[in-house]
Amino acid sequence: MATHQTYKTKVICAQEDGAIKAAVENLIAGHLVAVPTETVYGLAADAHNPEALQLIYKVKGRPANNPLICHVADTQMAKRYVEVSGLTEKLMREFWPGPLTFVLPIAGDSEIPSMVSANLGSLAVRCPANDVTRNVIKNLGRPIAAPSANPSGKLSPTSAGDVLEGLGGYIPMVLDGGTADVGIESTIIGINQHKITLLRPGTVTAEDISAAAGEPVFDRHNDEITAPGQLASHYAPNAAVRLNATQKHDNETLIGFGAALGDLTLSKTGDLQEAAHALFATLRAADKTDCATIAVAPIPHTGIGIAINDRLKRAAAPRSS
Ligand code: TXA
Ligand code: MG
Repeated sequence: MATHQTYKTKVICAQEDGAIKAAVENLIAGHLVAVPTETVYGLAADAHNPEALQLIYKVKGRPANNPLICHVADTQMAKRYVEVSGLTEKLMREFWPGPLTFVLPIAGDSEIPSMVSANLGSLAVRCPANDVTRNVIKNLGRPIAAPSANPSGKLSPTSAGDVLEGLGGYIPMVLDGGTADVGIESTIIGINQHKITLLRPGTVTAEDISAAAGEPVFDRHNDEITAPGQLASHYAPNAAVRLNATQKHDNETLIGFGAALGDLTLSKTGDLQEAAHALFATLRAADKTDCATIAVAPIPHTGIGIAINDRLKRAAAPRSS
């Protein structure tokens, strides 16, 4: 985390006159702006400004070897930076704008600073479904680099209030677009020749991608070499986390799912989409009960449940500090 809180952070409603203009002006001036996306809020910088990119790493306390996602307005903009094959374009047509990120070879004439991709030779690109943020990118005329807008390793933010809790004072502005619809981060795939590899599960599932591509999707999301930022401990609340809990122990707050009732629930009806939407907000709420441990009921390991279990496993992983 940066050591000084130098700003009086403004939360500006995205619908307000001049909100998008103010966001763009801040980005042009090299400041960071938290922006809404359909997945989680992003901590945005002008992707062409190396000093602003540096600031992302400093403000988040993010390891320098963890590359950033470039958010583009459309496929056209993506093509200025990465190689888009026929297969890739087919998947972009199917899933963009939306919560699917592509890790692709950097185009020969790309002008993106190598810091965005931590010198990997590949670049992650995503076109967010949120109109407000796509308008910010269009008006800027180039991509924004944006990781989730939380201190590194902590819970991802799904509202402007969540962003303020983690980064208030460290950035000039949060563009408030309401609560994020999807609630967990985008699915990430790598495409090399015709081989599609899942690097991070999300609400666009491997089955969805495979069906649209007519190709198999290889699951490598636990491989730390292909996804350097996928450190084991991540999304950590203050309390410890116990998974697959069938009953509540002393000093625990229990998060239920479906018929397994708790103090809180991810979805009373056992709906995985609703559970993804509620996941980070519910972990935050449980953390505020000052329990020693947050216990979470079993979540089925199918479809979107795979992404939810991935985030929960990381929230429960041993922490280095
Ligand atoms: O939904 C999302 O993707 C959100 C919103 C803000 O768009 N963003 C997000 O960013 O989750 P972040 O930085 O928290 O996660 C990006 C992940 C990291 O695990 C990083 O290692 C991986 O993407 N990544 C980025 N570029 C990569 C690359 N070139 N190769 C492999 N992994 C990459
Ligand atoms: Mg993150």
